[in-house]
Order: sequence, then C-alpha cells, then structure tokens
Amino acid sequence: MTTTAPQMPGSVPLLKNLYAMRSAPLAALTRGFRTCGDVMKVEFPGVSGHMLFHPEHVRSLLVDHAKHISKDTPGFEKLRLLLGNGLLTSDGDFWLRQRRIAQPAFHRTRIFALGASMVDQTDKTVMEWTLASKVGEPVDVADAMMRLTLRIVCDTMLGIDVDADAADVGRAVTFLLHDINERIVRPWVLPPYVPTARNQRFVASGTRVQQVIQRAVTQKRADMNAPGADFLRMLMEARDEETGEGMTDQQLQDELATVFAAGHETTANLLAWTFAWLSRTPHVRRKLVAELDAVLGDRAVTAEDYPKLPYTRMVLAEALRISPPVWLLSRRLKQPLTVGKYTLPVNSMAFVSPYVTHRHPGFWRDPEGFDPERFAEGADKDRPTFAYFPFGGGPRKCIGDTFALVEATLVLATLARKFELELPIGQSPDPEPVITLRPRGGLPMHVRERVAPKPAPLS
Ligand code: HEM
Repeated sequence: MTTTAPQMPGSVPLLKNLYAMRSAPLAALTRGFRTCGDVMKVEFPGVSGHMLFHPEHVRSLLVDHAKHISKDTPGFEKLRLLLGNGLLTSDGDFWLRQRRIAQPAFHRTRIFALGASMVDQTDKTVMEWTLASKVGEPVDVADAMMRLTLRIVCDTMLGIDVDADAADVGRAVTFLLHDINERIVRPWVLPPYVPTARNQRFVASGTRVQQVIQRAVTQKRADMNAPGADFLRMLMEARDEETGEGMTDQQLQDELATVFAAGHETTANLLAWTFAWLSRTPHVRRKLVAELDAVLGDRAVTAEDYPKLPYTRMVLAEALRISPPVWLLSRRLKQPLTVGKYTLPVNSMAFVSPYVTHRHPGFWRDPEGFDPERFAEGADKDRPTFAYFPFGGGPRKCIGDTFALVEATLVLATLARKFELELPIGQSPDPEPVITLRPRGGLPMHVRERVAPKPAPLS
C-alpha cells in the first residue's frame, strides 16, 4: 500500500494550488508546512509534485538523488527564455562540461583578487549617499544595491563599465524578472514571439541586456590580453577536449547572460535585506560597527580582511537565512524518490524552499527573530547541514557563493561604517517573491552619515 502525503490546502478548480502560490506564495507555503508537516503534495495545472521541507529530505533530493533529477520544470523552461541554455538552466553532460570550464574563474584566490574592484565600485555608492544625507533625501537601498552589484559583476566578470547605463539596464532586468515570474504563475501568457505589447517590451528588455554582453565580447575579442575579465577570457578560450571546438556565439551569450543575471540580482537583495534588518536591530548594528571600527580603524576594507570580520559574516549569514534571495528550487524526478514513508513518483516534481526550511522550528529557535549569533563558531554543531541552504546544494550548488559572500562583506563593511540607515517609522518591507525575494516596491530608507569614532585615549 502506498502512503500519500497530505495535500497543500487551498486548492481551487482549474488552477488548483497555483492560485495560492500566485497570490501569496510565502504565506501559502508557510501555512502548508504548518498544516501538512515535512512533506506536502502540490498540484498545479498539468503538473503535480511535492514540497520537501525537512533538511534530510532536502539532502536526499539535491545530493543523494542528484543523478536522478533534472531541471526540466516549468520554472526553468521559462527562465530559458531569458538565459538560454547556460549553467543555471542546462542539464546532464552539457552542463557538466560548462561547469568544469567556468569553475576555475570562481576559485577563492581569484575572487579575492577582485576585492579592490568591488570596493572601488562601492565608493560610488558612498558618494551618492553622502550627497543624499547632506540634502536629507531618503535613498532607495534596493535600487542602489542593484546598480552597485550590476557594476561589480560587469566590471569583474565581463570587464566593462556600465556606469552610464546601470539604471537603464537595471530597469530592463527588473522587468524581465517580473515578466518571467508572471509567465511561471500564469501559464497562459503568450510566448514572446507573439507581438503583444508585453512581449515587445520583453524582447526589447532582453535586447538591452544582450547589447551589454555583446559589448563585453567585442571589447575582449579586440584585446584578449587586456587585464581583467578572466571569466570571459576563460569561456572564450575554452576548447572541447574531443573536437577542439570553442563555444558557439550563442553558448557564450547564454553563459554570460546567466552570470550577469544570477550574479547581481541575488547579492543585491541580500544586501538590501541586511540593511533593513540592521535598522530593526540596533544592538546588532552596534556590534557590527564595533567590529568594523576595531579591525579597520580608518582605512578602507580589503578582501584580505574577509577572514578577520567574523561578525560581519554572521550578519550576512543570518540575512541569508531569514530573507533568502532564492526562496524556492524546483526539480523533476527521473527516478522515484523515497523520503520518510512517502515514495514520490517518477516524472513528478519536487520543490525545496530555503525560506520555509530556514524557519523550521525543529532546527531554529525563534525563527522569525534576526539573530546573527546562530552562526557563531560552534553554534551550528547540532544543526543538520541542509537546515540552511541559501546557495542550494549538491553538484548544482551556486558556483558564485564565495564571490557573493566576499562581495557582500566588502560592500557592507564599507557602507555600514560610513552610514546609518533607518527604515521610515512604522514601515516594514514586504518580501515579494519574484524568482528572487525582493523588497516589494523598493526599500526607501533615511540615510545619515555616521560620526567617526574618536581614537581611544592612550593610557
Ligand atoms: C547572495 C547571492 C546568491 C545566492 C543566494 C545564490 C543562490 C543560488 C542558488 C540557490 C543556486 C542553485 C539553483 C538551483 O539549484 O536550482 C544558484 C546557482 C547558480 N548561481 Fe548563485 N547565488 C548568489 C550569487 C551568485 C553569484 C554572485 C554568481 C556569479 C557571479 C552566481 C551564479 C550562479 C550560477 C552560474 C548558478 C548555476 C550553477 C550550476 O547549476 O552549475 N550566483 N545560486
């Protein structure tokens, strides 16, 4: 006799659970978990599957069952409209070959070498915020972080300066992500080749992003030995071991679009949420700034400081727990998977949600509280690894995790030491899950220059 997992509450005719997942996905998932427990059956039009919330089930899917799952899911199918067949969306031998080519560019030593550029780009935000604080204007922290991480990924990975068009390209990316999200939750949206007004904007925004990428490729081809953009050169110089052929222009475009999109939006959201949480927890902010003052004095932060800033890293780790930029991952099962007393059938879908598992009361005390001490050394010894997976796991784990953590540390260290950011009184940002978890409608905050601490008197 097979045992069937409890069904997600809130199914309606035709749309089934998609209705709840479309209108308020985080609330629907959280409610579902409370009602159903660790395994929950879900049904969408033409698709059925299970949500797995228990850390051991997450591990079973992403690690133990890794060879028997694919990204052949409606969500990734829609993402392919934007990213083609790049590292994030491809599968099988093709993905493995591309991952091997790209991997060396993400080595820790290479990332550390990009630290100076990350700090230089952050200095531009320092100038903008200094001005805003003088005139007393609030800043949209979500928008500022999006433009900053866009400049960083373009400078470090593509070797181009997007300062002049960062706002315009940022808007195109925001539209594309919202649009892809709509296509996932509204399967009846017409495909991009049908010339509706929405599709024309989709194509125009995609073209805007492609232009940026094309500029990087043309520039690099003109001078392969120009410094920087190792990642781009690595992709351009890669040769197939058997055929000796390089990547096609389309493949190059897809890989670059992937790193461009995956490499800035997520980190921008992490930073935006971090500033929001710091504004709500002044004791955490004080401790963070005390660490920065003690380690850095009045000099600028460098990548070499990364290991010396444990509390800064703990703050970011906690922001990744409570507001994980990637809140849901989907897979299709190529073979049945047994989790606990349930066997999930071949060809069905399986989902895991960092947002829900990071709040699992079996593994997190006071899960809605922002408390970086959860990540203090040794504090996680009783916690299963997959109680926390903001970067996914198994062979498909984020290739850019070190990049993101070093970048976020350098940006936070630079900005938190110079500015105090406050949410307007009574305001609490609402998380909007649009592929990534963003603050809905942006994140306006009051910005004040911090008074530099006086040097300690000599005793
Ligand atoms: C806080 C920042 C970030 C978060 C939370 C994040 C999260 C994730 C997650 C959860 C996955 C796995 C997706 C899945 O299994 O379906 C992933 C994959 C990926 N990420 Fe990130 N990411 C971040 C930053 C970055 C950066 C900075 C880059 C590049 C510069 C990047 C590039 C990629 C790529 C290429 C993949 C696909 C890897 C593969 O399948 O081989 N990410 N990311």
